[in-house]
Amino acid sequence: MSVDELYRPGLEGIPAAKSSISFIDGKQGILEYRGIRIEELAEKSSFLETAYLLIWGELPSNQELKDFEHDIRYHRRIKYRIRDMMKCFPESGHPMDSLQASAAALGLFYSKRALDDPIYIRNAVVRLLAKIPTMVAAFQLMRKGNDPVQPCDDLDYAANFLYMLSEREPDELAARVFDVCLTLHAEHSMNASTFSAMVTASTLTDPYAVIASAVGTLGGPLHGGANEEVIEMLETIGSPENAAAYVDDCVVKKKKIMGFGHRVYKVKDPRATILQELAEQLFDKFGGDRYYDIAVELERHVENRLGGKGIYANVDFYSGLVYRKLGIPTDLFTPLFAIARVAGWLAHWKEQLEENRIFRPTQIYVGERERVYTHLFER
Ligand code: ACO
Repeated sequence: MSVDELYRPGLEGIPAAKSSISFIDGKQGILEYRGIRIEELAEKSSFLETAYLLIWGELPSNQELKDFEHDIRYHRRIKYRIRDMMKCFPESGHPMDSLQASAAALGLFYSKRALDDPIYIRNAVVRLLAKIPTMVAAFQLMRKGNDPVQPCDDLDYAANFLYMLSEREPDELAARVFDVCLTLHAEHSMNASTFSAMVTASTLTDPYAVIASAVGTLGGPLHGGANEEVIEMLETIGSPENAAAYVDDCVVKKKKIMGFGHRVYKVKDPRATILQELAEQLFDKFGGDRYYDIAVELERHVENRLGGKGIYANVDFYSGLVYRKLGIPTDLFTPLFAIARVAGWLAHWKEQLEENRIFRPTQIYVGERERVYTHLFER
């Protein structure tokens, strides 16, 4: 096989790990966490129970879940020095950059590293799951010039996050919908940010650096950042009648339509189906959203024009509409994705440590060789 035949841009189709965390069948639209279908977890589980399942491989017993939830509840507060550091971040900065910096900063405060100690692993899992939402909410309030809201010990994980954003106890349906959103985004096998987390983990650095590198990778518009761009796109389209022309224009100009297409799914992403249902539940209770009508029409046209190529709605297409209805600003959509995906990244971190080998791929050198250095005065 020639070198060019060996090379796969984007490592497409190259297995980079053996994993038992999640399974995707992109042709049939199946997603399972540790063998359990996503639809079942979305309906019956909670985000923290799902996180436990992902990280430790089994559903927790009653007591294990109670202890896990308890520990996370009481580790939600962040050190005042992290808050003070975040206060110095420019309010015009993107919340993903704030999150990446503050996640990395946790490593300064919890610098002891004992990767072969199960207690160390559990403490890091608890700390990261507990503190990441607090850091997202703190930046949101501080950039508006307000003091961050302390976590509320009486509220569960999802409700507490919405409370820290709005200083109001959230509606029950809103909290439940948000919890399901977290479950849906918790894990998705090998992808850019997970790979990033694993490469970083493979050097045996600390888990805060692992999560910070994954957050940085998730931020791009071809990955987690697409949900923000979906809302901007719906704004640009303006009304359902313009959807067909928008799709035609994108096809002619070979422009990507945000929230559609996936490296693995060649049918509608099962998470998009659930998110669409959640959006409808929220609209029934709190009133509709005109962007939803545009979205439905757009999806219909994309399916007609591009369905033959396996391009269908992905997870990012409807998630933004759910978050909008929950009153969450657009540039927090990707940080919400990160809050959830911490569970999956930690599961891969733990799995990587169990059979670690540092990632060290090769490259195909295509540059010049044996050149002569010319002095500056000759150039
Ligand atoms: N709109 C229009 N055409 C598309 C789209 C799209 N959203 N996605 C893929 N295509 C077309 C490409 O133009 C290409 O066509 P061609 O073969 O005629 O040149 C073909 O489908 C293959 O596209 P690739 O970009 O090579 O597919 P890849 O698997 O590399 O990309 C990706 C997947 C990056 C998600 C892509 O579909 C995309 O950019 N989508 C829009 C951004 C988006 O929604 N990202 C979120 C993904 S989900 C997530 O990360 C959580």
